[in-house]
Amino acid sequence: GMKRKPFVGGNWKCNGKLSGVKELLAAFKGIGADPKSVDVAIFAPTLHIPAAQDCLAGDAAIQLGVQNMSKTGEGAFTGEVSAGQVADCGLKYVLVGHSERRSLYGETDEDCAAKTKADGLTVVFCIGESLAERQSGKTTDVCEKQMKAVIPVISDWSKIVIAYEPVWAIGTGVVATPLQAQDTQYQVRRCIRDECGAEIADSVRIIYGGSANEKNCKALGELPDVDGFLVGGASLKPTFTERIAPIA
Ligand code: G3P
Repeated sequence: GMKRKPFVGGNWKCNGKLSGVKELLAAFKGIGADPKSVDVAIFAPTLHIPAAQDCLAGDAAIQLGVQNMSKTGEGAFTGEVSAGQVADCGLKYVLVGHSERRSLYGETDEDCAAKTKADGLTVVFCIGESLAERQSGKTTDVCEKQMKAVIPVISDWSKIVIAYEPVWAIGTGVVATPLQAQDTQYQVRRCIRDECGAEIADSVRIIYGGSANEKNCKALGELPDVDGFLVGGASLKPTFTERIAPIA
């Protein structure tokens, strides 16, 4: 889309060693796109964030985020990291509702709503249907239900990015066709328009994720309702900042 500032996220998931983080960010640094024309965020493993911050010091083109956080504040919650702690460490972004969190860790729509409430961070909120849901014609219903679970808790829409990630496209090499991505993201925006009005619907970024790579990003990035990408595997290569972020 042309009207909205593109957003390109790299979700590294639970991949890599400290040495790899340093190598990759050294390759990313300085070749990122202009921060005035695109937002670029790397979602690194939480433990690697301080090293990533060191590597990116002085590079305003690439921001950092975490892949998950607690649905509670600070307190006796062993193993958790709170939104306040994430923000206090200078991070700007958090992923909420990723399909792997939903399917492997049992996160519910209610959990997603609790996390989306977090002040001080920009939430990249992930939605998307399974293969069975798509095949039975339920894609729009599933995405609407996931959206409607969080819409009531969103107070500042400038701090929300929606990531449409069809589950069947994540890590499979099977990317959505431009028609599938555009149709679904149009419906997601229509749902936001119905619930929240045209001004919010026209300004919120809706990005695509699921086997997005340097080869397919151009065609997808040209679609009117695709405002960027959430990239998994292809964000672990230098081509992420050379060929994917600049295209958005
Ligand atoms: O969050 C991004 C991710 O789920 C997509 O992964 O490897 O299919 O690009 P991948």
